[in-house]
Amino acid sequence: MYQKGVKHLCDNYGVTQVPNKYILPEPERPHDLDTTNGCIDLPVIDFAQLQGADRPQVLASLSKACQEFGFFQLINHGVDNEAIGKMIHVSKSFFELPFEERRRYMSPDLYAPVRCGTSFNQNKDGVFCWRDFLKLSCHPIQDFASFWPSSPLELREAVGEYSTRTRHLYKSVMEAILETLEVTNEKAIMEEGNQLMMVNYYPACPQPQLTLGLPPHSDYGLLTLLLQDQVEGLQIQHNHKWFTVKPIPNSFVVNIGDQFEIFSNGRYKSVVHRVAVNSMSSRLSVASLHSLSVNRNVTPYPKLINDSNPRLYQDTNFADFLNYLSSSDFKCKRFLESRKLQY
Ligand code: OGA
Ligand code: NI
Repeated sequence: MYQKGVKHLCDNYGVTQVPNKYILPEPERPHDLDTTNGCIDLPVIDFAQLQGADRPQVLASLSKACQEFGFFQLINHGVDNEAIGKMIHVSKSFFELPFEERRRYMSPDLYAPVRCGTSFNQNKDGVFCWRDFLKLSCHPIQDFASFWPSSPLELREAVGEYSTRTRHLYKSVMEAILETLEVTNEKAIMEEGNQLMMVNYYPACPQPQLTLGLPPHSDYGLLTLLLQDQVEGLQIQHNHKWFTVKPIPNSFVVNIGDQFEIFSNGRYKSVVHRVAVNSMSSRLSVASLHSLSVNRNVTPYPKLINDSNPRLYQDTNFADFLNYLSSSDFKCKRFLESRKLQY
């Protein structure tokens, strides 16, 4: 029953209590959920300013944000409002489809171009998360669009439009981030690579203090552009404490992933985050995950290695990451930790 997801559970069993399968051990629960001072003001980067005369100052703020928080909010990003609206609309409509329709996309194959499922790492999670997801491979579009769900009707067009625009934005933001590190000519990071659209759906939860929408994790790739609705839920770890990220209308939350922490030899941080759920409303988010191509190794950029900054990580690639997800390391260690060099 739990493999069918939280939406199915809520729709069919009228849950007034969280089933045991979702109840976290006491220390892993989101304790500070109700504190009023639990919010964090993430650095705000104005994309329009980045394109203008103020670029040097904005680059300095960007660099500081990537080092201290690993996260920032991106405003005036230029992605068309209508494309965003349609993406959210088709995402919601997808999760409203009858279970039988969504089931067609459920697959245990981590490489499947379209995958619908529940929890975090469904086959390994001891305790399940209060989250259903739809994952779509998006780049290059012509290789994948025919796999995307044909229902709801407008889904393919909306995902095509939205993924193209976010990829474009990714390139501009990444270009700026590379500029802060004085890195040039990184074709693998700028031109090639993967784009995955992860649509997360978190139904309202009767006992949000007992469970999580996503457990503490960092994102595997280079950079994530997250579209969240106006419902709070995303929390990031900063100075060993959890803080809620306050949604800013018409913005993206952008964060550095493991691959970029490795590439920057630890200068820019892939920060641990999680998602809390709430009893009042469901929550939807769309994460555009940008990473290197599946077979490409990520390695620390040579110029960022020197006597005072020795090399921190061994080379790694996507296959290593998937092996890690299926291994027993998954429970006890972050992927990034498993790639650290021991001196
Ligand atoms: C993710 C993620 C955060 C959110 O998909 O990796 O961290 O707010 N999502 O849904
Ligand atoms: Ni994440």
